[in-house]
Formats: sequence, structure tokens, C-alpha cells
Amino acid sequence: MIMKSSELRQSFLEYFAGQQHQVVDSSSLIPGNDPTLLFTNAGMVQFKDVFLGQEQRPYTRATTSQRCVRAGGKHNDLENVGYTARHHTFFEMLGNFSFGDYFKEEAIGYAWEFLTGILKLPKEKLLVTVYAEDDEAYDLWANKIGIPADRIIRIGDNKGARYASDNFWQMGDTGPCGPCTEVFYDHGEHIWGGPPGSPEEDGDRFIEIWNVVFMQFNRSADGSMAPLPKPSVDTGMGLERIAAILQGVHSNYEIDLFQNLIQAAAKAVGTDDLSAQSLRVIADHIRSCSFMITDGIVPSNEGRGYVLRRIIRRAIRHGHKLGQKEAFFNQLIGALCLEMGEAYPELVKLKGRIQSILLKEEEQFAKTLEQGMRILDEAIGSMEDGAKTIAGDVVFKLYDTYGFPADLTNDVARERGLEIDESGFELAMEKQRKRARSASQFTMDMSNVIDASETEFTGYSNLVDDCIIESILVNGVKVDKVEEGESAIIVLKQTPFYGESGGQVGDKGWLRGNGAFSVTNTTKQGKTHLHHGVLREGMMAVGETLTAAVDTSQRSATSLNHSATHLLHEALRRIVGDHVHQKGSLCDSERLRFDFSHFEGVTAVELEQVEDMVNEQIRLNHEVLTEVMDIESAKEKGAMALFGEKYDSDVRVLTMGADYSIELCGGTHVKRTGDIGLLKIVSESGIAAGVRRIEAVTGKAAFDSVRSTELTLQKIASLVKGNSDNVLEKITSLSEQTRALQKEVDQLKSKIAAQAGADMASQAIEIVGGKLLVSQVEVNDPKDLRDMLDQLKSKLESAVILLASVNDGKVSLIAGVTKDLTNKVKAGDLIKMVAPIVDGRGGGRPDMAQAGGNNPDKLSEALEAAVAWVSERV
Ligand code: ALA
Repeated sequence: MIMKSSELRQSFLEYFAGQQHQVVDSSSLIPGNDPTLLFTNAGMVQFKDVFLGQEQRPYTRATTSQRCVRAGGKHNDLENVGYTARHHTFFEMLGNFSFGDYFKEEAIGYAWEFLTGILKLPKEKLLVTVYAEDDEAYDLWANKIGIPADRIIRIGDNKGARYASDNFWQMGDTGPCGPCTEVFYDHGEHIWGGPPGSPEEDGDRFIEIWNVVFMQFNRSADGSMAPLPKPSVDTGMGLERIAAILQGVHSNYEIDLFQNLIQAAAKAVGTDDLSAQSLRVIADHIRSCSFMITDGIVPSNEGRGYVLRRIIRRAIRHGHKLGQKEAFFNQLIGALCLEMGEAYPELVKLKGRIQSILLKEEEQFAKTLEQGMRILDEAIGSMEDGAKTIAGDVVFKLYDTYGFPADLTNDVARERGLEIDESGFELAMEKQRKRARSASQFTMDMSNVIDASETEFTGYSNLVDDCIIESILVNGVKVDKVEEGESAIIVLKQTPFYGESGGQVGDKGWLRGNGAFSVTNTTKQGKTHLHHGVLREGMMAVGETLTAAVDTSQRSATSLNHSATHLLHEALRRIVGDHVHQKGSLCDSERLRFDFSHFEGVTAVELEQVEDMVNEQIRLNHEVLTEVMDIESAKEKGAMALFGEKYDSDVRVLTMGADYSIELCGGTHVKRTGDIGLLKIVSESGIAAGVRRIEAVTGKAAFDSVRSTELTLQKIASLVKGNSDNVLEKITSLSEQTRALQKEVDQLKSKIAAQAGADMASQAIEIVGGKLLVSQVEVNDPKDLRDMLDQLKSKLESAVILLASVNDGKVSLIAGVTKDLTNKVKAGDLIKMVAPIVDGRGGGRPDMAQAGGNNPDKLSEALEAAVAWVSERV
């Protein structure tokens, strides 16, 4: 009996459970707390710290079926997907692990027993490799297991550097690593390829099925190898590969799981050719995309989100290639849940979310895909004979204007035997980055005029301070003094003025000494605070001591908004979900603006809950605590940091409520949350794919907002002659009245149309056994044709009737035949004959049939044809 993929997964876990291994769930595709990895790319990733001795678990043996993505970083198979029998962006890795428990002998013994004892693979089809220096592993295979010497292959550092070897496995450029031994399966002579280590090893004949790694070292960034506290074991077997063998097929895409996905894909794109390579790509990609979304990734233009976007777009392009121009990819989630939902219930739980994210991405890309493909076809068409490379600027234009990731263009190129100029593309990208950088430098770069002195910021606790002028810039030039009426930038040795950063605007205020300088904004260059403004009176010179006074009302309103932003951020994460990450923020004295990752509008109910939660935290009147600590301790404390942001080694940690909000933040804040008074959300909108924006007001502004809503309500109430207590009732009844009136108007219109129909009866001509009426009529709504037809039928008694109308450039046709004539003429047949003339389709019963059409210009021709057709039949 053939073993299904799901049975195989089960049997593996059961076998190792029987060997005292703890069965552990697959971890997320986003490696926890590991910035060195883009995706979980092997079973050992969730155990990395256990191998390193930095984390203890209650067990020393574990087994998993781990979801993995290899589409970026050190292990990247994206470009091979669809072109080989065994590469995937997403796959499942079955593994067993020993953390300082058993080592080589047992690991090899288990692998062999499972393959040959449980799965009953024929021994003569298996061969193994060992790391060239690993005599112990060689000896175990040769003498303990009894594999003939000609089927044990030693592989050394064959990739150019020490430990760079197919038989020395490393997770990434750093981290746990060690020599490994691999088991290969021979798919037979009819498939091209040679054994590992031979020149033909890249062929598909000998396929690696199991990798057993003897984890012994931790590799550091400088390349040095430190021994692990305890030698350990990490193994990995691709579920799809082994399933292929057990199911007697060669390609992974022929296994049960993929066959079902491929069939679903064929249906969704509308093709019968199940062998199309594009179907494999699509079937592969729906797995990685769905699981990435399950784990909280959304399509975006950077990092993991961009990898997701690239894969989705590649899938869409392959559907397009098979002729599907409509959204289809999102429909495959159902089939995927059937195949994998049992093993991964989270997939089923998030089915709706996954589908809507995919659909959105499809709709967005559909707008440019067609055009982009045309540009690409033209570019390829105009290449000189024999030229093989698509120019970098074409690849860039496709990327920049049409959203074609470079690997998508490469995929098309490869299909046509071409390649892309990758370095030309990179060059064009770099140029664009430079342009973007210079465009965003609207403030003058003062780095060469300001000595990089660090300003000491005293403004967390003081809003007024005595300060010394360190330097003055007028028109970007360093000067000794500034005179009345001049605009300048003043740098102080220390300042209470907050410099614009972290989303909080800079302070305004006054510097008063020998003169009075009005500060209109404070910015930061590095750690230097720049006070921008105008000297209103007197004179100021370098070295002078002055009093710096921050505009307190502006600052305190800004702090309210900043503190409220933290409360809002946490409330969003708790209510909308912890995939919410800050994408940007702005707090000034009037409002706060918070941008965050989320793929659809926040619902009204959620917004209300968020608002409630923030206001509850305000009323709890927590003390706002700040502590400076090293980044490690901050992380330990669970402080939320912004992804991709660089922090100093010492950071400021802001806590509101013991277990409510903990964030890294250099901004200024209220003393107690109660100071915020009230928070009112004023808008929620989308600003880019997957990014939402909430704007809110606090303190007095929040009160003003409530007050103004109240005033509007009063105005509405007086318009409908009510008051705030009954306005809702009044409006409800008004709108009911409007609806009733509208209905009445519609009915009257239909009556008039029917009447007009009856009048038309006189136009009918005599035919054998009855009358024939073929006519174009004017109606407000094509639905009225039906009433008209019924009127005419009863009026004419024995008749064949065809009515047509044109509304908004579309033709509507309706045909009716009275019962006594349906044996001669059928309404359905008449419609079927007429509709195609006006580019339409339709049908119906012998006594009534309807159709629509797109070509009103052909209507009179159609009506003439109808008369002739009926005349022939009676
Ligand atoms: N971590 C090893 C691999 O991925 C087992 O091949």
C-alpha cells in the first residue's frame, strides 16, 4: 500500500517518540530572536540556543516535522523551483535531535533502522557520504551497518575553503555547525546524474534524502570555531523527497500532496495540461506564501515581506503564462488546507486572512502585469540577433514601474534561453537609492561646519536651563555672533530643547541673553541639537551664557501625544494582533499619527476596543517610568524595539503600567498616564499596501473634538426638527420614508412602461396562427422589459415577441412565445440565434428567454434577423 505524505510524517514522529524523543511542534517560519536568519530553513533553528548551551529544555532528545522556507539568505532555492524535481521554496523537514545525549553511533543506527526497517527501502538502492576526515562515521557505516565500501563516499573540503564542504553543515555564516553524513537514494539508471562527488552529481538520479549532522562547533563571524558544550545531533529529511520514493515516483511534484495541489491549480487557472511546469511553480508557491502569512508576514517592499511579495508575483506570472488573467492564486488556499490543515491547524484558522491578503496582492499586481509583460516582450523582441542578456535598465524599469522583482524577470528570461544583466540592474538600483537620499535631504547637511560635539540634553526634567553657546551658523557658515533680524542656527553645550527624532517634533521657545532668539524648530544632526530661529533683538555671541526656555504648552501637548502613541501601539497589538509593528509615527502638539503593519482596515469594533483600552490605561493613571540600561537587559525586560532600527548599547526604556507597555524610546513623556486626559481616534486609513494609519488627538484637543461632534449633532437635530434624544429616530423614519417613496416611484415607472407595451401591441404583424412583434423599446431599467412582455403576451393572445432595449451601451433582449406557438418557435432558440449578433449570450425556456449583448450598433440587424427567422418557422 502506498504511504501518503501525512502517514509518513506521522510514522517518523512515532518512530522517534518510541526512541524516547519528545515530539515538539514546528516553530514559526520567522526565527525567534535571531537576526542572522531571514527564515527558518531547517529543523534545528528552533533549537539553536539549546545546541549552544544557552537554553535548557526539559528533554535531551526531540523530534519535529518543521516547516521551512529556503527563499533568501544562505539557503535559497527560489530560482530552481519548477526547474528541478526536488527544489521548493517551502518544504517540511523531518528531524531528530540530540542535545548532548546520543551521538554518532545511535544517530546513524536510527536513520538506518527507520529507512530500511520501518520504511523498508531496499538497502542496495542506498549509498552514503561522510566528511572526509570523519573516520568514526565511516567505520560505523562500514562495520556496524555493513555498507559495502564502494557505496560509502568521503567528501572533503571540496568548496575551496576549510570546512567548506557538502559534508560540513552550517546553519548560516555564524552559529552551530559540524560534519555530516548523508544518505542518498538511487532513482535508477533511466535518470541522468552521478553519485555525490562525481562530475554528474547535480543530476536527479542520486537524491540526498537524509542529512545527519554531528553538531560540534559554534562558528563566529570571524570564522573561528568554538567547540559546543556537548556534541549533539541534528538531522533533516525532506518529507517530499522521501514521499516520492515511497510512492514510486521520481519527482516530488508527483507525490499525492502535490498532485492534488497541481489539480487545484489547473482548475483555478483553467488548463487541462497537468504537466505544465508553471503548475508546479504555482503549487509550490501557494505553500510558502500561505505559511509565511500564517506566521505573520505580509507582502511589503522590504525584508521578509518582500520575499513574500516576490514569490506571490512569480506565482501570478506563471498563472498568466497559462492564460489566466483573473485572480486565481488565492483560491488555492482551500486545496492547501485539505492537504495540510490537519498537520497545521493554524493554516485553517487563518484561511480567510490568507486568502484576502493574496487576493489583494493579486489585484494590485494585475494592474501592471500585462503592461510589464508587453514591455519585456518588446525589449526581448528588439534585442540583436544572438544577444543573450536583457539590459539592466530594462530590468530596473520593470521593477520600478511595473513591480516586477528582478527574479521574476529572470524567470521569464530563463524560459526564453536568456539571462538578465544583474550588475547593470544593481547599478540602476544604487543610482535610484542615491536620488532618493538626496531628495530627502531637505535640511542642509551641516556635517562639515559643525564640529561633531555632542549636545547634552537636559530637557527630560527641565524646560528652562542656563546654557552656553558653542557655535553659531548663519547661511550655513560658522560665525562668531548673530545680529538682530538674522536667521541662524545656534548650537549649545547643553539644552532643554528636544531635537526632532523618533517621530516627535522638535521644541520651540526662546533663548534669552544679551539678545532674544526665537527658536522656531529644533533638529538633530547626529547627537548635536540645532536650534533654528531668528534673533529678534540684541546680539548673541559664541561663548555667551543664556537662558534657554522651551515653549511649555507646545512641549506638554506633544508629550501627551507621544505617551498616548505608546499606549495606542500596545492596544493595537493586543486587539488587532501581534503582527502589528510600528512603521512610522509623528507626534506634535496637535495630534498623533501612527503607521503600522496590518493588511486590511481596522474594523469599527476593533477601533472602539482600542480606544477603550487606551482610555482605560489613561484612567489607571500609571506612573511613567524611564530607566537607562544596556540593550541586552532591555530585551530581557521585554522592551519593544523597532525592527531594523539601530540602537546605542545603552538605551532608555519607557514603562507604563507594570505589564502594559515597555518600549525603547528617547522621547519626552508625561509623568502619569492620567495627564493624557482623553484619547480620541479621529481617522483610520490605508497609506500603502499592508500599512494602515491611525490619527488621534489627546488632552484638550480630544475634548474639543468631542465637543465639535456634539455641535454637529445638534445642527443635524435642528434640521430634522428634533433634539439630541430623538434625532436618531427622526432620521431613521426619514430614511424609511425616502425608501418607500423610491419604491413607489419605481412601481409607477414599471406601470408606465407596461402601459407603453400594451400600446405597442398595435405594431404586431400577422403571422400564421398568431402575431409577431419585434421591437426596440425605451425603458429606464431593463428589468421593466419583463412586465412589458407579459402585458403584450396577454394582449396579443397568440404571439411571438422579441423586445430589445439599450441602456448604458448594453443591449437587453427578451423573447416570449405564447404556449400555443411554442411547438413551432421556441423563445430560447430565438434568443440563442439573435444574441450573438449583438455580441451577447443568453437562453431560456420555450416560452421566455433573455440575453444581454455588448454591441448596440448591430441591434437593428439582429431584429431584422429575428423577423426572418420566425417567418421561416411559422
Ligand atoms: N540541519 C541539517 C540540514 O538542514 C540537518 O540539512
